Amino acid sequence: MRFSISSEITPPGQLYYVKCLFISAVIYICRCLNSQIMRVAVYRKEHFNAAHRLNNPDWSDEKNDRVFGKCNNPGFHGHNYELVVKLTGEPDKDTGYVFDMKKLSALIRENVTQRFDHKNLNLDLEEFKSLNPTAENIAVVIYDLLRDKIADGLELKIYLYETERNFVEYPA
Ligand code: NI
Repeated sequence: MRFSISSEITPPGQLYYVKCLFISAVIYICRCLNSQIMRVAVYRKEHFNAAHRLNNPDWSDEKNDRVFGKCNNPGFHGHNYELVVKLTGEPDKDTGYVFDMKKLSALIRENVTQRFDHKNLNLDLEEFKSLNPTAENIAVVIYDLLRDKIADGLELKIYLYETERNFVEYPA
């Protein structure tokens, strides 16, 4: 019986070179396309006042008080919320707009501020019947209210200031 150990390395076949060429071409085309995309962000700032109370009904009064402090006040308390809506995308070839700001302002007014302004978030809004109206949750609710009103190709981001110093971002 004879055994042979081959130390030869098989040279790559023609198919290998064709594959390499194809992948290089795809990478080159992607880079070219990407360099032509000019993405710009536009921001619209709006404002609303609202009352809320942070409370977890599954916890004792003592625990709610310990975790949420003044924000657990049974008589509620108010904030001057500053809402910033950011849209990112390519400016339209004809208008030069990423999004018409008048339309964005109207969208925010109709879907968010008209519903939220001068309201008690816990009592007046269905969204917070069983959801703690923290700045985080309010930002997520606002995002969900606006997302399907804006074209999928535009990236949407919400910034919500509960105080001058405390603000949240969604999606983060
Ligand atoms: Ni508060």
